[in-house]
Amino acid sequence: MKKLHITGGIPLNGELSVHGAKNSSLPILAAAASVHGKTILHNCPQLSDVDAACEILSSLGCRIIRTATTVEVDTEGMDSYHVPEHLMREMRSSIVFLGPIAARMGKAQISFPGGCELGPRPIDLHLAGLRQLGLNIQEEHGILDCELRQDKFVGTHISLSFPSVGATENIIIAAATAEGDTIISNAAQEPEIIDLANFLNACGAKVYGAGKSCIVVHGVDRLHGTEFTVMPDRIVAATYLCGAAITGGEITVTDIQSEQLNSLFPLFKKMGCQLKEEHDKVWIKGPQRLRSCGTVRTMPYPGFPTDAQAPWMAISCVADGTSVFVENIFESRYKHAGELMRMGANIRIEGRVAIVEGVKTLYGANVEATDLRGGIALVLAGLSAQGETTVSNLCHIDRGYEQIEKSLSLLGAKIYRE
Ligand code: EPZ
Repeated sequence: MKKLHITGGIPLNGELSVHGAKNSSLPILAAAASVHGKTILHNCPQLSDVDAACEILSSLGCRIIRTATTVEVDTEGMDSYHVPEHLMREMRSSIVFLGPIAARMGKAQISFPGGCELGPRPIDLHLAGLRQLGLNIQEEHGILDCELRQDKFVGTHISLSFPSVGATENIIIAAATAEGDTIISNAAQEPEIIDLANFLNACGAKVYGAGKSCIVVHGVDRLHGTEFTVMPDRIVAATYLCGAAITGGEITVTDIQSEQLNSLFPLFKKMGCQLKEEHDKVWIKGPQRLRSCGTVRTMPYPGFPTDAQAPWMAISCVADGTSVFVENIFESRYKHAGELMRMGANIRIEGRVAIVEGVKTLYGANVEATDLRGGIALVLAGLSAQGETTVSNLCHIDRGYEQIEKSLSLLGAKIYRE
């Protein structure tokens, strides 16, 4: 198994363009299954999760053509409503294929999605919403056998008990070609929801209010193909900014939508970073030594993003002072803490709370990625640590970061994969 080898202590320097958003491209690829004709997606990141989504579409009979960051999906030949279990298990977000497959085929047969390192990943909100829209779902031995009660979904009012990103996406896609109107209350407001709505509207859908807590979808007869550019990845942008912060470096991240990072800028400044924010790029200069930013509570958007919690914990490990994290979104998203402690971090976990006592320096060690964002936190720690760090289980990191060692090398890091 390959590992990343990182020699720490080198400040990052330079400019980096941020690739397309994993968490936007995945629901949009799923939605493409409900479109009649050809979808051309630009700025699609080259990630293993995107590979998995393309494999699911191929298994349904869609024709996929990929060149670098462009993915073309032609659904004319779509002839199946069954997703093989091994593909469903590849990633958590495969559940978002349920709505589009049922909308297109009237039926769907899928297994529960892959378990995830972040604690139990229930799908009750997805299933309840789709049932309310008229999908009969039989659950047996981990297989979901689904069939529309009528020939289309039927619009209704759905009130989510939690603003689940995936459930909001599943419901919007199903509602797009439903009979009548659907209202989604307490919908997720993440930027990726807006990107999905923009994609669907480009296909002829009528989705209003995306990005707000109440979304209205007027069902249309069918969706036609379109050409669309995926938004930039806000979490990847945040990660590289953290890289400059933890190494006392100075970088500019470009091709982003900086307002999506508004929850982080005040915290970077509180930790002693200098920032210059423009609409599509951000310049950051890290201090000689970071200061703690106090308490970080992860919240649904526009609050502090849970996906930035692990990277943020990494930079807090070497900040002067005590930092407190409260992980409000996932049940168990601190698996990276144990690996950070191998590098000399001082972290105490109490349930959903993590207390980090900043240390002057971390030390290189052999550590293992536990999940996507936990893995990148170890890379950030390695960039700052004294000596060499190796990070294994790179499959986690490759799910969400394009050629991480290449991008960091471009910024001056001493890092290679072997
Ligand atoms: C999306 O996951 C993202 N993944 C996650 O990013 C992100 O952390 C999460 O949203 C929150 O922002 C993709 O977009 C592919 P949720 P999702 O449904 O849709 C509970 C990354 O690192 N819940 O908003 O799975 C759930 O257990 C990944 O890129 C239910 O209880 O997130 C969790 O505690 C990690 N029942 C909370 O809601 C349900 O039916 C948030 O989940 C669905 C969710």
